[in-house]
Amino acid sequence: MQESKQLTPLMRQYNDIKSKNTDLIVFFRLGDFYEMFDSDAREASRILGIALTQRGGVPMCGVPYHAAANYISKIIKEGRKVGICEQVGTGEGKSKLFERKIVRVITPGTVIEDNMLQSNVSNYLVCVFTDKKGWGAAAIDVSTGEFWVTEQADDISLNGLSCMLAALNPAEILLDKITLDRVKSSMMIPGSVATTIVPREESSQIPSNWPSQSVWAGKKTALTCALTAIKYINVNEPGFKDLLIPFYKEISDYLALDENAVRTLELVSQNGARKGSLWHLLDFTVTPMGGRTLKNWILNPLLNLADIEKRQNCVSNFYDNPLAYEELKVILADISDIERIMSRVGTGNAGPRDLAGLARSLAVHGALKNWFDKYGAVVPYLKENILSKITVIEDLANLLNSAIEPNPPIKISDGGIIKQGFNAELDDLRNTKNNSSKTLAELCEREKAKTGISTLKVGFNSVFGYYIEVSKGQSGKVPFSYTRKQTLTNAERFITEELKEIEDKILHAEEKILRLETSLFDSVRKHLAEHIGVMRSFAKAIAELDVYSNLAHCAKVYKFTKPVIDESNILKAADLRHPVVEACLPLGSFVPNDIDLGGETQISVITGPNMGGKSVYLKQAAVLVILAQMGSFVPAASAHVGIVDKIMTRIGAQDAIAMGQSTFMVEMKETSHILASCTPKSLILLDEVGRGTSTFDGISIAWAITEFLYKPHGGGAKVLFATHYFELTDLENKYKGIKNFHAEVQEYKDADGQSKIAFLYKIKEGAGDKSYGIHVGELAGLPATVIVRAKKVIKDLEAKKGTSVSKKEDDIVGDLFSSPIVEEIKLVNTDAVTPMQALQMILEWKKRINS
Ligand SMILES: Nc1ncnc2c1ncn2[C@@H]1O[C@H](COP(=O)(O)OP(=O)(O)O)[C@@H](O)[C@H]1O
Ligand SMILES: [Mg+2]
Repeated sequence: MQESKQLTPLMRQYNDIKSKNTDLIVFFRLGDFYEMFDSDAREASRILGIALTQRGGVPMCGVPYHAAANYISKIIKEGRKVGICEQVGTGEGKSKLFERKIVRVITPGTVIEDNMLQSNVSNYLVCVFTDKKGWGAAAIDVSTGEFWVTEQADDISLNGLSCMLAALNPAEILLDKITLDRVKSSMMIPGSVATTIVPREESSQIPSNWPSQSVWAGKKTALTCALTAIKYINVNEPGFKDLLIPFYKEISDYLALDENAVRTLELVSQNGARKGSLWHLLDFTVTPMGGRTLKNWILNPLLNLADIEKRQNCVSNFYDNPLAYEELKVILADISDIERIMSRVGTGNAGPRDLAGLARSLAVHGALKNWFDKYGAVVPYLKENILSKITVIEDLANLLNSAIEPNPPIKISDGGIIKQGFNAELDDLRNTKNNSSKTLAELCEREKAKTGISTLKVGFNSVFGYYIEVSKGQSGKVPFSYTRKQTLTNAERFITEELKEIEDKILHAEEKILRLETSLFDSVRKHLAEHIGVMRSFAKAIAELDVYSNLAHCAKVYKFTKPVIDESNILKAADLRHPVVEACLPLGSFVPNDIDLGGETQISVITGPNMGGKSVYLKQAAVLVILAQMGSFVPAASAHVGIVDKIMTRIGAQDAIAMGQSTFMVEMKETSHILASCTPKSLILLDEVGRGTSTFDGISIAWAITEFLYKPHGGGAKVLFATHYFELTDLENKYKGIKNFHAEVQEYKDADGQSKIAFLYKIKEGAGDKSYGIHVGELAGLPATVIVRAKKVIKDLEAKKGTSVSKKEDDIVGDLFSSPIVEEIKLVNTDAVTPMQALQMILEWKKRINS
């Protein structure tokens, strides 16, 4: 940065502002542009892909102010915060320098503008604090007004927090240094999320519009989080504070999905995109609220049987009543994002189009009432809920309908927002404006007749405004009531009281119209704001309607059936499918499979070749549970789901490498988390656990994990373990509740007599017998020479060992020590190695044996 004495006043002003807002990218208003300087400019030019220029040696880049929203949204999506610095003074006075200040801070967690948000995604600002034994959190979606808090006093390992963050996928997180360190070390926050260090707001002063003291008893950390978050929002968007009222939510009311499960099951995104996810597959919702609610339900399946059945019944009723669905869809199509519009109404940020959208949305009240008259029994509890609000909705709809033009301009200042007939004064002003020439012509005729001056005419100039002009020759006839304004060579100009009044009306009509429209618009907005509570719960009910009918539609489209749900330990389904994988394959080519866990079998060990369908089989079990417990039908011929409390998965290690830990370390961390926190009600998916280390290590660990999870007298978590360690199939012989399955393949000879395999994707009882690795390698296009060589090696190995490499042995330990290293020793051509090479080989073997 330059020495301050060399700086221009402007740059000094900039530096001053920037130094107080180091964590913001400052959008510094200069005329029609927002300029960024220095490090901000470098960062912004990279994020926005715009050119970097210079100003007095300082890097700089800029964007036109009218297109700023687009650029701001890009910066926010990178997890950065933007400070909007506007010219606030008049720019007069000695310095001629506009006074400037930050008028608004836009952060990823506090945006409300539609064009900076994704319509069907909640945008959470989360505040988290840990304490000695547990943690508390507040989650706020400022754009919709959703605000809840929770606390777990007894969760030293922060497992619950990790699950919660995985489900919320926050846009921004507030925390203190201690919490940040703990959360970071356990990799709970992806790097792209904005984190802000804030001091704890440890007041016991609860805002008067919040739930009473008793709710917060023993919820100190949760309250601190709520107060801290509100304080932060209040600084950035002061209007919000009173609109946000928290409720306490017990996290343990929902099925816990760990971070690995949310990601690898591809519930709401696949490699970062919505497409390819379960949510995308299921989403036929019509309203933005419906889309968000669906996502929310997928990530937060229920645990309470009665609650699940309540949802299931609604879905079932829609399923049985296709007409109800069709007719509802038409009504919902007119409803825009009421939740987000109401947030902007509440903060005074709503524009004309917001209110026009609201008008259209609320205009459905009549159709909705009719629909409930006809189909109310489909959603009994929503009927009461919505009908109890319908008079308020109707009143507001009438107000909006009479007040707001259906297709108004974007900005209030463009005018033409308030409808004709809404306000007499406004109509009058508009008439005045429109009739100005007529009124003047009338005045002119009247004055001519009164004075008998035939040359009298009415004119206008910018200096004197409206005037009456009389030619010099006739000026003698001018009455006393005229006031002379100007004398020309052959004419005199006058004004009269009446002309002045008309002039006033005309000249100021436009300005008055604008002012009046603005104030009328504001009063409508304020009136709406008084009903924000009703409107929000109306929006919520609409969202639920949307999701129920949507799930019924999915059941039809994807051929789902209604599962039996109870409190048992059973997880059983016939002809179960993975809906997302199925949708990607040609029609009818997905192979359904049965599953039966929790009865005789506690743990299934599934072996089989790569690409055999093991992982898909594991995942579809989890998807079954999630769908069932969110209230949906499921992709199976029949299904019985005993309520599951947690789904924990250890699938695919590759992606975590990016976060800076070794694959194996990540794998073991996640596995230890599973072992530490599973309960008899949990479903655990272990996919190739142990792959990240040497074979011996891997087998031993996988073996020990399975034994750990096994509960000989029942009451163990349900486990599906896919593995390519054939050795694990021995567990079946030792433990009654462990059962072997394999992904079936068919071996056949092709035209050239080469043996090939076909994947059948059928998961069958019993251990398979071979690892088909070489065949898979062949299918994957390994060079023929490699395949031939591999086949030769395996043949030699088998011949030398006198048995198949992967044959079962009674004692797994014996099997281990008869394997790879011994085989390698046997293979060494002692005539062809130098003593040095031999020594190196021995060292290498020793290392592997000792590792
Ligand atoms: N039940 C099935 N029916 C049809 N195709 C399947 C089935 N299961 C898996 N597949 C196909 O096989 C591929 C590999 O499946 P996957 O479960 O990943 O194999 P594995 O885990 O055994 O290596 C999938 O991407 C899918 O295209
Ligand atoms: Mg797999």
